[in-house]
Amino acid sequence: MDFHVKDLDLAPSGRLRLEWAEREMPVLRQIRERFEAEKPLKGVRMSACLHVTTETANLACTLQAGGADLVLVASNPLSTQDDVAAALVSYYEIPVYAVKGEDNETYYEHLHAALDHRPHLTMDDGADLVSTLHKNRREVLGDVIGGTEETTTGVIRLRAMASQGALEYPIVAVNDALTKHLFDNRYGTGQSTMDGVIRATNVLIAGKTVVIAGYGWCSRGIAMRAKGMGANVIVTEIDPLKALEAVMDGFRVMPMLDAAPLGDIFITSTGDINVIDRHHFEVMKGGAIVCNSGHFNVELNIPALAEMAVSEPRRVRPFVQEYTLPDGRRIHILAEGRLVNLAAAEGHPSAVMDMSFANQALSAEYMLAHADDLEQRVYAVPEEIDQAIAKLKLEAMGVTIDVLTEEQKRYLASWEEGT
Ligand SMILES: NC(=O)c1ccc[n+]([C@@H]2O[C@H](COP(=O)([O-])OP(=O)(O)OC[C@H]3O[C@@H](n4cnc5c(N)ncnc54)[C@H](O)[C@@H]3O)[C@@H](O)[C@H]2O)c1
Repeated sequence: MDFHVKDLDLAPSGRLRLEWAEREMPVLRQIRERFEAEKPLKGVRMSACLHVTTETANLACTLQAGGADLVLVASNPLSTQDDVAAALVSYYEIPVYAVKGEDNETYYEHLHAALDHRPHLTMDDGADLVSTLHKNRREVLGDVIGGTEETTTGVIRLRAMASQGALEYPIVAVNDALTKHLFDNRYGTGQSTMDGVIRATNVLIAGKTVVIAGYGWCSRGIAMRAKGMGANVIVTEIDPLKALEAVMDGFRVMPMLDAAPLGDIFITSTGDINVIDRHHFEVMKGGAIVCNSGHFNVELNIPALAEMAVSEPRRVRPFVQEYTLPDGRRIHILAEGRLVNLAAAEGHPSAVMDMSFANQALSAEYMLAHADDLEQRVYAVPEEIDQAIAKLKLEAMGVTIDVLTEEQKRYLASWEEGT
């Protein structure tokens, strides 16, 4: 079996952590048990490009239990948990190509290794696998039936491909499931981003001014958690509705240029480019900490900061690069601007990935069953899957809810009864 991981000796620790994550993933566990019995993915070649974490390992085992012949590669050069990658190779015989800190060239070599597998199904996070396939590996297209996409940025890219007529097979947008973005993006990114900032810097959050770019699903989660830890939170937005929500949720809202001189910590999670740009770095306080939790590191204009700096950045802690400006101010960039929650911490807690990856597993099964009826565009996760996952999660949490009575059903379906 071909693979590329950092060190197979790390496998025992990876297995322990993978098992620890499994405790918090009851919905995925139930799906795995059914998959084991029914083998809905029997003989299906799958190439998955995901953050290689303990939770992804549980998804990989679920797909394998369903009969899939799976190859897993990293969806970000800095997010791989090397012990998990080793465990998947050593104990589960899943070929993994992922090394934390791999350079761009290796990252793309790994994507090509995934495509050498000639997948029937692709499972992507950020759409690098799908775009590489469409741009450079078109000979693989003939085997592909369909795919799934995990994150907001990937869905945006795939919709752009579809609208330009460039997408050649159907994709289910897992991110659009309510049981994904309402929980993973908000509570997962909220908690794990603050975890990443704290692990990277060990700074006290209470009393700091934290500037958060965006008030979407991820960024509102981060704003909520930063506020809860005692930060004075400023939100920046470009969407009037989101900005209004942020104001009514009690946050100060202003343009980034006004926030730049005020912030102690800056966190972007917008999916946009150069959200923190040269002119923002120019007016920041010395000592400012800047990081990103959006999919790509382009949210921060690090090349501009590097040009402004008087010397090469100094690595002052494992995930902290210090840039010194001509007037002596020092700006600290965390995790090279890559997703700080995955690079400097462990990514989302398992309990939230339980739902995201339940959506992945069930969407893969759905795609296989329905690909013939689907067009070459991006589809929402069917509502039945969303509802089923919410129900299973509540059951696993021991939470019961009310059920509509016959009278209530009739009332809600009627229009005659009024005042
Ligand atoms: N770190 C993680 O683990 C993780 C998890 C899920 C999603 N993501 C990624 O995070 C990013 C955001 O995802 P989301 O689901 O919150 O998207 P979203 O669309 O819900 O929110 C993005 C928000 O950013 C705002 N925005 C865009 N450009 C801006 C700018 N220049 N300044 C200020 N605000 C701006 C938009 O108006 C929107 O409200 C995406 O790249 C997504 O792929 C990361």
